[in-house]
Amino acid sequence: MSEDRPAMAGAPAVEFHGVSKHYGPVKAVDELSLQLPQGRTIALLGPNGAGKSTSIDLLLGLRKATGGTVRVLGSTPREAVNAGRIGVMLQSGGLMREVTVREFLTLITQLHPKPLEIGELLARANISDIADRKVDKLSGGQTQRVRFAVAIAGENDLLVLDEPTTGMDVENRQIFWQAMKAEARRGKTILFATHYLEEADQVADLVVVINKGRLLAEGTAAEIKAMAGFRRVAFRLPGAREEDLSRLPGVRSVDLSGGLVRMQTSDSDATLYAVLDAGHRPSEIEVTALGLEQAFIAITEQDNSSQDSGGQDNGGQDKGGRDDNGRDGGNGQGPEGVR
Ligand SMILES: Nc1ncnc2c1ncn2[C@@H]1O[C@H](COP(=O)(O)OP(=O)(O)O)[C@@H](O)[C@H]1O
Ligand SMILES: [Mg+2]
Repeated sequence: MSEDRPAMAGAPAVEFHGVSKHYGPVKAVDELSLQLPQGRTIALLGPNGAGKSTSIDLLLGLRKATGGTVRVLGSTPREAVNAGRIGVMLQSGGLMREVTVREFLTLITQLHPKPLEIGELLARANISDIADRKVDKLSGGQTQRVRFAVAIAGENDLLVLDEPTTGMDVENRQIFWQAMKAEARRGKTILFATHYLEEADQVADLVVVINKGRLLAEGTAAEIKAMAGFRRVAFRLPGAREEDLSRLPGVRSVDLSGGLVRMQTSDSDATLYAVLDAGHRPSEIEVTALGLEQAFIAITEQDNSSQDSGGQDNGGQDKGGRDDNGRDGGNGQGPEGVR
């Protein structure tokens, strides 16, 4: 499986082939296959515990996979890291104390094989304004911006950022995204982990959704966002049958308990008109937008319940678009399924 190839310029930025990482019974990463192109800004999106940090540690060679193969920029993680090709901002990790931001980053650049000049680094990281502050006097958001500067302290090809905006207020976040987008315009590949769909939507041009260590969806931000265009339609209709409901236009999933029907649909108008056209007269009709966060939760919950087989809330009755094998529109389950 792990044939040796030279480090090619055109190689994918990151390749996972059936990668697993188990901690005892916990499958932090579970047979994950990915192929992420170079030159893009890619969000690794998933709820807490999804396996984002573990996946990042694997692609940096910080942990050893239980199984599968990881390639980064056409070489092994260790080769790519040793060649200084990857800039990293992990979720935790301290900075020196009692020195200024400028002094600290000057030291960091001296450790890099292809360092940026310190003034250039401060400008690129958008932290010239705090260059003369003591590192241990910074706010949480400012500290994160300095940690980003560490990631770009030398010339590299791939930036890997694990939940970079944690602890940032709106202002710090904006300043940070500006700096990150400027790095993207230099042609760098950026892979950042987040549990905010909104954040992925705003800055990523490719979004990879994982949950429970498995690939859930992959596509452009617009495609992932379209999944969030679903609405929930609920009504009371005694005697309703699931097989009839699941055939209605737009319907993605059906949850039936007693006479209460709850469906997710991509077209709530068409769904409701079809119910009425069929001669039904449901009561207590409710139509609610899922919204980005809720849609994300719905996608992952559906995944959770289908995996836990016979999950508590819908007895595994989900129909349509989103199960383990038939992800969204017959794209198959390959990582290259969605352009
Ligand atoms: N060193 C470890 N030992 C045991 N379990 C771990 C370890 N690291 C992570 N896990 C577990 O693996 C799963 C994925 O964790 P993680 O990769 O940190 O997720 P995320 O970054 O998406 O929040 C979680 O269930 C977590 O508790
Ligand atoms: Mg994490």
